[in-house]
Amino acid sequence: MNAFEISTLKEYNTARENSFENPETFWDDIASNYQWQKRWSKTLNWNFKEPKINWFQGGKLNITENCLDRHLKNNGETISLIWEPNNPEESEIRMTYSELHLAVCKFSNVLKSKGIKKGDRVAIYMPMIPELTIGVLACARIGAIHSVVFAGFSSQALADRINDSTCCAVLTSDGMYRGSKNLAVKTTVDQALKSCTSVKTVVVIKRDNSDIKMTETRDIWYHEAEQEVSDHCPAEPMDSEDMLFILYTSGSTGKPKGIAHTCGGYMVYAGYSFKNVFQYQNGDIYWCTADVGWITGHSYIIYGPLLNSATTLMFEGVPTWPNAGRFWEICDKYGVTQFYTAPTAIRALMALGDKWVKASSLNTLKVIGSVGEPINKEAWDWYEKVVGRGNCPIVDTWWQTETGGIMISGLGNIGKQRATFAGMPLPGIQPVLLDMDGKEISDDGIEGYLCIKYPWPSMLRTIYGDHQRCKDVYFSNYPGYYFTGDGAKREDGMFRIIGRVDDVINVSGHRFGTAEIENAINSSTLVTESAVVGYPHAIKGQGIYAFISLEIGNHDDAEVNNSVVSAVVESIGHIAKPDIIQIAPGLPKTRSGKIMRRILRKIAEGKTEDLGDISTLLDPSVIDSLIKGKK
Ligand code: WTA
Repeated sequence: MNAFEISTLKEYNTARENSFENPETFWDDIASNYQWQKRWSKTLNWNFKEPKINWFQGGKLNITENCLDRHLKNNGETISLIWEPNNPEESEIRMTYSELHLAVCKFSNVLKSKGIKKGDRVAIYMPMIPELTIGVLACARIGAIHSVVFAGFSSQALADRINDSTCCAVLTSDGMYRGSKNLAVKTTVDQALKSCTSVKTVVVIKRDNSDIKMTETRDIWYHEAEQEVSDHCPAEPMDSEDMLFILYTSGSTGKPKGIAHTCGGYMVYAGYSFKNVFQYQNGDIYWCTADVGWITGHSYIIYGPLLNSATTLMFEGVPTWPNAGRFWEICDKYGVTQFYTAPTAIRALMALGDKWVKASSLNTLKVIGSVGEPINKEAWDWYEKVVGRGNCPIVDTWWQTETGGIMISGLGNIGKQRATFAGMPLPGIQPVLLDMDGKEISDDGIEGYLCIKYPWPSMLRTIYGDHQRCKDVYFSNYPGYYFTGDGAKREDGMFRIIGRVDDVINVSGHRFGTAEIENAINSSTLVTESAVVGYPHAIKGQGIYAFISLEIGNHDDAEVNNSVVSAVVESIGHIAKPDIIQIAPGLPKTRSGKIMRRILRKIAEGKTEDLGDISTLLDPSVIDSLIKGKK
């Protein structure tokens, strides 16, 4: 048995046992499947106190040699990347491993020609076009740290992220297509860069030929720059613990956190988890519908598949354009074998009726996956029966930006499945449930805080520029454990994720801190104070419910709505727009001035019969008016 591949339940059980008994040997065996320029001298060195986590110490590698160069001999002509454009009338692109390798080398040389080097941070703000993948890999090849920012974020959100990690360059495009829309991209970058002094270079890909402004000495067209460089670029030797990328994600307090991942451990785990969760076999066509702007796109559109010489499909558009059958048409067009999407997409498509699915055969599908939020029973059943035609296992993959890779999930059709349960931990992953006192819960069926008690290779190493925050958020609530922020329960060794236990809300699989949205809302001149909570939403999983107090004066609802929505769109982006805005004469506060969100959550959910203890409220009468004003 090759330790890298798990094909039976027996192999899974053996791997799991080995990983507990001798974790270092277990991970040594898996890491040996990759190409290292120099083998590591120490497998693991860790404590969760500081925290300090080093994997494969002393090892030298470049992840792009493992994603590309290593496959050239046997798989040079294998398709690495299929790109399906937004408009089905436009031609698709298929790139072999040899072609992708050349494209990455060229892009790397363009970056080098602008003086970008190992350790520099490079922001990438691009639509889902092949150059996004190529740009990410080019950064990795020269040792620059990529920080991909989802292209739906506003210019202000982009500027915040660029400034937080002082990026020296931005890779972007002129414009983008998304469904029926044609959106500006470069203009947003220009706006952001007004407040970013660190950026010296902007590389622009031509996508929609829109008329944009190029700033001389700063902006270059990629198609011109690539003419000037060679397509040979040796990969930069990287230490295992050198940073590979930063990806910003929301927490319960303050501004988004730059989660930092490193080269060696991330590579080992991204490749291993991809292979086994999706049971990828040569010749399969794998499609993950996420955007590269999120961790799912990093690990399971780009790195995981390419590390396995897989064929990965990248889709520029949206599931409902030109019609609601688009996903399924794409599955048939390419013969997709593994399909990986989010519950919010499943619910949205389910609501549009089975006919759209039934118009396609979907007969190549072998494994279907879900990620990003808990999947409800109804959506699970529909996904299994209508999309999977009753003969594809669902892999419900639980993980986080911070974990770098899938932690709890079924492995293709290996082992048992239970609707709405993410399943068993992957080998090497040691999740536990803790009670309020931080004691491990051993009984089944009891909800607890989901923590991980042993390091795994792709775990976050720090929050960029703020190690103390990393310690405080993840390693302090329950000393000795990594705290996920999720609640879960366990039955027969399988985990069911209940959802966040902190002030993070998960809207269509996107994470937002309530404080982050409140800060945005408070920037409206009409607002004095706000409180945001999540509430159950039939399609999005959670919706955003905003209670706001206004400046004195008469304001009509439309004026308030516009002002609040535009404040959010400006500071975060359309994706964080509140679904419901309720004007509140006052917010429920304790005598010490703390907003009691517990009560607001109940009001937003419409569960006002049992509000719990309200005796500590400064002014209990606000409750009545909040209930009356509920939307
Ligand atoms: C939630 C996305 C239930 C969870 C990969 C986690 C899930 C947060 C699942 C991380 C799942 C992710 N079932 N909940 N299969 N997958 N989550 O960082 O609350 O964008 O903490 O990573 O999404 O979101 P993130």
